[in-house]
Amino acid sequence: MTPLIYAHRGASGRYPENTMEAFRAAVRRRADGIELDVQLSKDDKVVVIHDHHLERTTNGRGTVRQHTWEELKKFRADKAVPSRQKHIRIPTLREVLHTFAPTKLRFCIELKNFFFAQPQLEEYVIGLIRQYDLTSRTVISSFNFDSLLAVKELDPNQTTALLYIGPLHNPWEVGSRYRVDELHVPKDQLTTALVSKAKENGFRVVGWTINSTAGIRDAAKMNVDGIITNYPGRARKALHKP
Ligand code: G3P
Ligand code: CA
Repeated sequence: MTPLIYAHRGASGRYPENTMEAFRAAVRRRADGIELDVQLSKDDKVVVIHDHHLERTTNGRGTVRQHTWEELKKFRADKAVPSRQKHIRIPTLREVLHTFAPTKLRFCIELKNFFFAQPQLEEYVIGLIRQYDLTSRTVISSFNFDSLLAVKELDPNQTTALLYIGPLHNPWEVGSRYRVDELHVPKDQLTTALVSKAKENGFRVVGWTINSTAGIRDAAKMNVDGIITNYPGRARKALHKP
């Protein structure tokens, strides 16, 4: 099976990450899905942004959590990768799901709740996924494994993914403990043996973040189920995916 291609923060190799512009570009490049990072604003809106601090990707200052959605939406979100668009702002998760629900796009929603507590982020995200009837097209990932367990307890039908970095001993054992369905494995930890053992243990395997043509082809040869990449168009070509 050809792996699914997830556009990491949208087509973020060429467009401002985690913006509607990058997500639309991913759809034009026929990505199977988009990966996006979510956290809470001061007034508990689920917003799509990677860093807890605003400075790297926006013209705002301070943390996301210090600002209401009304404040956040005024910042430009193309500081790291400038855009020609007049309005380029932080999207909400609702806006992303609402926009792409009528398509076949899949979603890999990463909960950014490892370093900073995000009270009830799991409930808010599951609520939005259900509202748009997207449970079957969505996977929730996180470096915070307890949060993944909380997701599963809230909705046993929700696919979850153990997201890790660096070596993790027998990740399928950790995955079982946290009741996840997928392992999202950093590219330097991907091996044929790991993928096959993970599958024997009933897990799907997705590699991240793989940008080179050679790396994408290598991962496909290892039989991964999905590839997270900043360059979805390149991945399609590399895999000769129609
Ligand atoms: O989903 C994998 C990847 O997005 C995790 O790392 O830092 O890019 O969010 P990061
Ligand atoms: Ca991410």
